[in-house]
Formats: sequence, C-alpha cells, structure tokens
Amino acid sequence: MDTRPIGVFDSGLGGLTTVRELRRTMPNEDIVYFGDTGRVPYGSRSPETILRYARQDIRFLLSKDVKMIIVACNTATAMLAGGLQDLPAPCVEVLTPAVEAACARTRNGRIGIIGTKATIRSGAYERALHAIRPELTLYPAACPLFVPLVENGFTEADDPIPRLAAERYLSPLRQAGVDTLILGCTHYPILRPLLRNFMGESVEMIDSGAEAAHAAKKLLESTGLQSLTRKIGCCDYYVSDSAAEFAQNAGPILGESVCGQAEQIDIESY
Ligand code: DGL
Repeated sequence: MDTRPIGVFDSGLGGLTTVRELRRTMPNEDIVYFGDTGRVPYGSRSPETILRYARQDIRFLLSKDVKMIIVACNTATAMLAGGLQDLPAPCVEVLTPAVEAACARTRNGRIGIIGTKATIRSGAYERALHAIRPELTLYPAACPLFVPLVENGFTEADDPIPRLAAERYLSPLRQAGVDTLILGCTHYPILRPLLRNFMGESVEMIDSGAEAAHAAKKLLESTGLQSLTRKIGCCDYYVSDSAAEFAQNAGPILGESVCGQAEQIDIESY
C-alpha cells in the first residue's frame, strides 16, 4: 500500500488519454501529470533533443515524490529505449503494452502502426512486434500533422481538415487490409471517431495510452504499491506553457474539469 501519486508525462495533451483510463480504472489513485506544452511536438525533433526533454520530464516527476512513472509518450519511449530500468521508481511505458495487445488481437497478421516521425523512424514498434511474432506484416506510417491538429482542437469526426490528413496518411493502410491499427501516439485516441470512420468498424484500434494505464494497474497490484484508500484521488497538472489554455483543452478530453489544478513550471530548470 502506497498513497503517493502516480507520475505521468507527455509532450502535451496526449498523455491525458492515459490519465483518463487511470481515473476510470483506479479512481482512488492520486496523479501528477506533466504536459510539456511549451515544447510540443516532440515527434519532429532529433533523438538527442527528445531524450533531453524526456529526462527533464522524469526528473520533474521524481521531484514530486511519485511512486511510479508512466511515460505516456510513444516518442519519448522510443528514444529512451532500454534506459528506464535504472530509475528510482518503477516505470511503465506505452510501447510494450500496445505491442502485446496488437499481437493478441490481430487475426490476419497485418498490423498498421501510426505514430510521430521520430517514433516511426526509430523502428521501435516493428522490432518489438517482430520479436514476439516474426511472421507479422507491418505497415508503419508517420502522421506528423495529427499532433498539431489535436493540440489546436481540430478533432471533430466531421471536420474536413483532420479528415483530409487521415485520408492521406491512412489510405495505404486501409488498402493493405490491416485488421489492427496501433495508435502509436497518445494524442491519436483523441481523433478516434475520425480514424474509426475512415478505417471502418472491423479494424481493431489499439490505444497505447489506455493500454499503458492497464499495465500500470497490473504492476501496482503485483508490487503491492496500489493505494487502498477509499477517497477519490486528486490530479495535479503541470505544464510548461499557459496553464489556463491547458485547463480549457484538457477538460473535454478527460471528461472532468481541471480548473485550479494546473500550474505552469520552468521545465528547463530540471
Ligand atoms: N503524444 C506523443 C506520443 O505518444 C508525442 C507527440 C509529439 O509531441 O510529437 O508520441
């Protein structure tokens, strides 16, 4: 039993898809969230820069005495690779749970992987999927416009702007007949209705943010670190740009208000 908060970070709003699932499945846990809204997007930056940002984000969360860190960012996960073992708190990343879910759910062995440029270029998803099931046929696609669209609120299923971007990025995957699509960026589940419309009902969508939340629950339970209190947990949100802007955008994603719980910090000092 450990009542300290779970620390979660992402480059911006995307990691809220993990927080939303944590709130649904473990409502009594406290959460500290960091969204690097001043430096989003990570996915079009160099591996060195992404690594530096991710390490600062982790140091910030550790300064809040968190009991676990969730790297709710596929781009940071792909760059950190094996570098998460030596942290002073247990760590869950988004890639492994998404890979396991995709391997378990595909029926025809054709899996689409969408993510940021950095994630797709790293080849991390392909390596991890082929390590479990070498026979899979994989269709990776970078979708660099999706994160800016989400950060700027272009998320409605009937909005022609994200729909055109989805058509451009996803047409080859649809033509290839993938039966499973890994949303390998935590921002993408926010576009889920639109992606669903384009890919069709039969395609299994793997939400890397939600899968990470399930993996975190299992790890907390198996290590005895879950909070056993009955009270509803609280969430503190930290960002590296306007807290008011974040609070406004975060509410609809989370389905709850974050008013008064968001604070701007100087991430460069960590
Ligand atoms: N949400 C992030 C991910 O899962 C990063 C998006 C970005 O900043 O490019 O990859």
